[in-house]
Amino acid sequence: MNWHSRYSQQAGWTRELRGYLFAKAGLDKAQHVLEVGCGTGAILAEVHSPASLHGLDLGPAALIQCKLHAPAASLTRGDALALPYSDGSFDIVFCHFLLLWVSNPLQAVSEMKRVTCRGGSILALAEPDYSAGVNKPDELAMLGQWQAESLRRQGADPSFGARLAETFYQAGIRLIETGPIQGAEKMRSADEWEQEWAVLESDLTGIASVEEIRKLKALDQKARAEGQRVLHVPTYFAWGTS
Ligand SMILES: C[S@@+](CC[C@H](N)C(=O)[O-])C[C@H]1O[C@@H](n2cnc3c(N)ncnc32)[C@H](O)[C@@H]1O
Repeated sequence: MNWHSRYSQQAGWTRELRGYLFAKAGLDKAQHVLEVGCGTGAILAEVHSPASLHGLDLGPAALIQCKLHAPAASLTRGDALALPYSDGSFDIVFCHFLLLWVSNPLQAVSEMKRVTCRGGSILALAEPDYSAGVNKPDELAMLGQWQAESLRRQGADPSFGARLAETFYQAGIRLIETGPIQGAEKMRSADEWEQEWAVLESDLTGIASVEEIRKLKALDQKARAEGQRVLHVPTYFAWGTS
């Protein structure tokens, strides 16, 4: 699995939203900006700002790739649950497909708030809720359930997105804007479909048999060709100030 290419695909789903939110949050005037859980740098590479950019991630391999894709960013290996920065260090602190993976999202969001300066912005740009996903036609409904189970087995909370806004509230962040993002449904090209299936095949190993996966992939392909395929995973964002 080429994770950078997967993260770049996901980055495409939120590009428009990020442009809007970063402008509102004052990215052009920010001096210090941090991405928590920066992965391979798919998002940091697209942050164009005179600010000093910082990225933090648990994974050393992700950070090596991040250095290649976002060479201007200062990178730190660390845990979102205990950010190694002083209070109020950043004007903007954001994350993207991170909080579903952390064991205590409230603590991570509280840490993001702590390291944000007074009046600065905290942004969670994309957190999915697989439990409310839609897979049509109905023969494909199992795909969503299996994927949620796979995320659970990998340690993620597949329905965290539904609790994002309340988590910001509990962390004492003043919510300015929150809601579902649009875009993941726009996946149309053959390449994107193959990429989606590469993720599914990797996720479903050990949950469904090779034969079951093969059958669902063929059903999916047929439904797409006939214009019947619906794939929707509600994914939420939240923007607030400290
Ligand atoms: C799905 S990836 C998203 C990467 C990047 N934000 C993006 O959207 O391209 C989640 C990233 O969060 C990192 N991560 C998970 N738990 C973490 C934690 N407790 N502290 C810091 N990073 C964490 C993982 O190592 C991984 O790189």
